[in-house]
Amino acid sequence: MSYAEITRQLGDRRLVVVSNRAPVDVRRGPERRLVPTVGGLVSALTPVFKAAGRGLWIAWSGSAGRLPHPRVELPPEDPCFTLRLVHLSERDVSGSYYGFSNRGLWPLSHYFVGRCQQSYERVNEIFAAAVLEELRPHDLVWVQDFQLATLPARVRAARPDIPVGLFWHVPFPEPSVFGILPWRRTLLEGMLGSDVIGFHLQSYARNFLACVERFTDAAVDHDRGTVQMDGHEVRVVAWPIGIEADLYESLARRPETELRAGRIRRQLGSAKMILGVDRLDYTKGILERLHGFERLLEHSPAFRGQVTFFQIAVPSRERVEEYRRMKREIDEAVGRISGRFTTGGWVPIRYVYQSMAPPELTAHYVAADLALVTPLRDGMNLVAKEYVASRVHDDGTLILSEFAGAAEDLPEAVRVNPYNMDDVAEQIRHALTMPLEEIRQRMTALRARVKVHDIRWWLRGFLGEFPELPALSLSGQDIA
Ligand code: F6P
Repeated sequence: MSYAEITRQLGDRRLVVVSNRAPVDVRRGPERRLVPTVGGLVSALTPVFKAAGRGLWIAWSGSAGRLPHPRVELPPEDPCFTLRLVHLSERDVSGSYYGFSNRGLWPLSHYFVGRCQQSYERVNEIFAAAVLEELRPHDLVWVQDFQLATLPARVRAARPDIPVGLFWHVPFPEPSVFGILPWRRTLLEGMLGSDVIGFHLQSYARNFLACVERFTDAAVDHDRGTVQMDGHEVRVVAWPIGIEADLYESLARRPETELRAGRIRRQLGSAKMILGVDRLDYTKGILERLHGFERLLEHSPAFRGQVTFFQIAVPSRERVEEYRRMKREIDEAVGRISGRFTTGGWVPIRYVYQSMAPPELTAHYVAADLALVTPLRDGMNLVAKEYVASRVHDDGTLILSEFAGAAEDLPEAVRVNPYNMDDVAEQIRHALTMPLEEIRQRMTALRARVKVHDIRWWLRGFLGEFPELPALSLSGQDIA
């Protein structure tokens, strides 16, 4: 499936993407440099804009770093879309991004009920003003994620002629959990301003419909996956996001990646390498994973000196106390476990706290015999898919939490309950002693899935749900 096909599907509609995080970071230095943000959406949408020769992306200016103008043509070397930055005051950022988004909706969506706080309406209003200022008659607005939940209703109220989509990239909890929110009705009605609302899994879509039925007056048709709201129909669909599988595959095939992977392995001084890659977030289960690895070394001494756990933790939301506390706890656990088991030239855990560009990250995927992806709860988890796409020799084993959305997409992964340290230890042992033939069978099947259900499949699938755009033969249920 090509990007040109996706563009044809859009027809004369201009795609307007709205997200909290901007698609570029500003690198400081002698001269300001714009660097694309690492992540699936940026690399997925840029080719759509490129093929269409136009497009608009509206995002928070703080996430991009300070730029002299609120509008930038991107990418700088060959512009094909406009980035319109929305400036937020320090107070709004604290109340919305660091407040209700990341201390309220984020923990609630991941079932961490005890960690909630406060409200973010004003920022949605500011974003709505920016969208409305920018809109042209043939636009299609696509809002990304939980930080902007009430934006769709605001856009619809002012411009009912413009189709609006919302993709919710995190889990959507059951009514008993979502219902805790004092603003549950406002939030749901805000989302229902959309024409299409997308989730990664059917179960999240079902939970959303159950919440709408329970907490609003809108009429829900569970069989059709639709909601009737103030005279318009909202389609609620499941489209699990994929990755740019071709990119990871081609990076993995580069000779320099192989060389770099070899160097990474040699530095470890052990026969086997286990890899963890996560934003440093309490939902990712990094601490529990460290305890599981400790349990393995404790109960199976034969693995000491033979296997090294390499954890890459990407700094995230450092102004939120829970994240700072989690970082301290991880630092302590790494120190304690290393102190307990280090012998000779072997250190059991390598831990880096930094983000990594795709080529370097892929070298780590290529180097690792095993990827340990054990979130306590995760909307999807793209690291699992990136690891698979990078295993171009059909080897390597993926251990995957049963609470990650990706577990539904990747049934040949080794499943684990991330809360159970004994299970984590046992599944690592199982993976490290798995016959090569089984490793290959599992990885071959996983790679085929990741390649077919890639980012373009997702883009085309979601956009195909808009009645305004040409219908597609793909179905949201077709995720077997
Ligand atoms: O997938 C959830 C999400 O919050 C995305 O919206 C966001 O791009 C990513 O995680 C990283 O989070 P943040 O933008 O808060 O660093």
